[in-house]
Order: sequence, then structure tokens, then C-alpha cells
Amino acid sequence: MRLNTLLIHGSRKVHTPPAVASVIEPLYVSAVYSFHPQIEKEIPHKVPFKYSREDNPTVSYLEEKIRLIEGGEDALAFSSGLAAINTILRALAEPEKTTIVAPLDLYGSSITVLKNLEQREKIKLVFSLPGTKSLLDVIGSLREKDNMDNLIIFFESVSNPLLRVYDIEDIAKTIRDIFSKKMSKNIYIIVDNTIPTCAGARPIELGADITVYSASKYLGGHNDIIGGIGVFKDKDTALRVWDERRLSGTVMDPFTAFLTDRGLKTLALRMRKHEENARAVAEFLREHSKIKEVIYPGLSDHPDYKIAVKILRCTSGIVSFRIRGTLEDALRVCKNTRIIVPGVSFGGTESIITHPYTTTHRYLSEEERRVTGVTPDLIRLSVGLEDPEDLIEDLDRALRSIP
Ligand SMILES: Cc1ncc(COP(=O)(O)O)c(C=O)c1O
Repeated sequence: MRLNTLLIHGSRKVHTPPAVASVIEPLYVSAVYSFHPQIEKEIPHKVPFKYSREDNPTVSYLEEKIRLIEGGEDALAFSSGLAAINTILRALAEPEKTTIVAPLDLYGSSITVLKNLEQREKIKLVFSLPGTKSLLDVIGSLREKDNMDNLIIFFESVSNPLLRVYDIEDIAKTIRDIFSKKMSKNIYIIVDNTIPTCAGARPIELGADITVYSASKYLGGHNDIIGGIGVFKDKDTALRVWDERRLSGTVMDPFTAFLTDRGLKTLALRMRKHEENARAVAEFLREHSKIKEVIYPGLSDHPDYKIAVKILRCTSGIVSFRIRGTLEDALRVCKNTRIIVPGVSFGGTESIITHPYTTTHRYLSEEERRVTGVTPDLIRLSVGLEDPEDLIEDLDRALRSIP
């Protein structure tokens, strides 16, 4: 089956008795299930359902749909995108044995999660500068003295908020080439695919081991859920993470799974319209006298345009830009829109304007923000599904507030 069909029908394994024959997966709110343990058998993940902190039919239905779309062996849904990242890293990172390599241009709280792991769990953490080449240079420079029994590479396929596009295929191939000769026992390439979504790229097909999502963004798509997803190339890795999820209780709740599944049905359609609107906005901003730089991977002057053409089927609805002005001017622009909502998320029907320097990335040091380009004049715009002419008029009005 192709993408749109899978997004709508998934596995078709609806958990409902034949007499009801519901077209839609029912919402199972039960915390507990009638279940008879057997002495000789290990208690398995998923069926038979036992307790909703471990598995729930509505959540499993969503997991199976995403698994099919991404081409993994298993998928797990979490209470948030950050819970997905945290639970996966905690399950796979081993104190004093693990090195994590990540570019610094990540969502701000993902960076904090990595730093916390380094400080509290004795994990070696190495950051690279933004871009595929810098990441590969750092990976190539790792030596056996680094904790090389267990190597985790974590990056965003399209980074937030600078929209650098990472060449997943090239990174995965280079890592496997280098480490088949060096000593790393386990390598996990984890790709946060929240911005392009599976409509834009499928990291496992391109060589990743795990794909993670904040479902709170495009997958849910309506700014009304908080959730996360992990898809695993390999079942054993998924089982380790599942164990961590059941112990930390970071499972997605059934209603969120229901809404995420509903959101998925229109994902490809929405992504096309987000992209169309974003392109119109990016082209408008490019000509505006108050704009210094427009960052959008669909524009040919973007530093990763060639990688974007190679790996992305869709460039999403996020446009970042730098204004000709100060920190106060950037905040004034965010304050002076009437339709576009000032806030910190993206990927929903409503357009949202964000000032990363003072919000999503405020806990990074001044130097970290400088080298990643999260400067006071940077604004991230999540272009929603409104009429683009209204968004352009709204932006123009807000930009005119810059003296
Ligand atoms: C790229 C990316 N990954 C992960 C997250 C965390 O997701 P959540 O807010 O659902 O915990 C975010 C949140 O903004 C994000 O932008």
C-alpha cells in the first residue's frame, strides 16, 4: 500500500468484535484487561493486553500504523516527544560505555536531555557544529578511548529552528563504514523526524535505526495533543525501550492515540498545503525591506538545498527568518501579529510565531546560541493552513512595527 492509503487504513486490524464492525478504531479507556498468566511463559509486550501503562489497544493500533508506514519492526507511542527521546536514550545509553554524538542545532530541550544524561549517567557527550559535514567530521575523529562499546548518534532530519537538512543516507553509510572497522559494538542512529514527518522522509529506509517524533506537531496536526512516537528497525531494541517505558510510565494515553491516528489520516494532504503556504510566505519575506535572511530548505539559496532535494519529499511549513533589527524589534514583531499566534509550538492548523532565543533555546549558553545561529534577530514561523494572503498581510503589518 502507498502512503495515503496507509495513513488512512493502517493495518486494518481494528480491535473490535465482528458484530460491531466499526470502521474506526474504538477508543479503549480501560486501564486493566482480563488476562490469565501462564507459569511457563514470559509476559509479552502487546497482546494479550494486561495493563494500559504497558500497552493499550488504541495505542497499539496507532503504533502498528506508524510501524507500517516507516518500515520498522516495532513502534512505541509516548506521552510526549521529549518523553520518547528521554525514554529511548535512557534505555539504550549505558553508563561509562556510551558516547552520544549530536549536532548542537537541536530542539533546546533535547539538548538539555542530552546534557542531563552526560552529567547524571556518566555518558560521554560530543556536540558537533550544525550541518552534515561537521557531524561526520566529529564522528570520524572518535577514538577507541572514547566510550565506543555503545555509540548513539542523535540528530534532527530537519533541525529546529535553523532548518538544516541532514543527509541521513550519507551519515548512516559513513558511520557503518567507519565502525565496521573500529570497535563500537552497538551503534544506534536516532533521527528526530518531527519537522518533515513521514510524508517528507522515512529515516529507517535511509539507514537510521530509530525514528522519533513529537506527535504534538504535524502528526497530530491540530495543536490539541501532546505525544511522541519511536519507530525501531529492530525488535530487540524496541523491547528494551518498551521495558523502560513501562517502568517510567511514559506511555501515550488512549485519547491522544485516537487523536493522533485521526490526524494521520490527513497528514500528507496537510503537509502539501503547509508547504505551499510556507513557500508563498518565504517568497514574500525574501523581498521585504525589514528582512535580512529567509531560511527555508525549499529555496535554492538554502545551505542544504541539494540535500533537501535528495532526501525530502516535502519541505514542511516552517520558515525561519532574521529581521533587520534588535532583540526588542524581534519581540515587537511577535507581539504585533493579529492572526498568527505568538507561542512555542509548530505543525498545527493555526500559524504560530516563535522567538527561539528567548523561548525554546533560552537555556542554551550565549556561545551555543551564537554558533548554532539562534540569534536575537531570529524568528521561527510555523505556517498553518489559513489563506496565505491573510498571513502575508499579517506579517507585513507586524514587520512595519520595526522602526
Ligand atoms: C524537533 C523536536 N523534537 C522534539 C520535541 C519535543 O516534543 P514534545 O513537545 O511533544 O515533547 C520538539 C518540541 O518542540 C521538537 O521541536
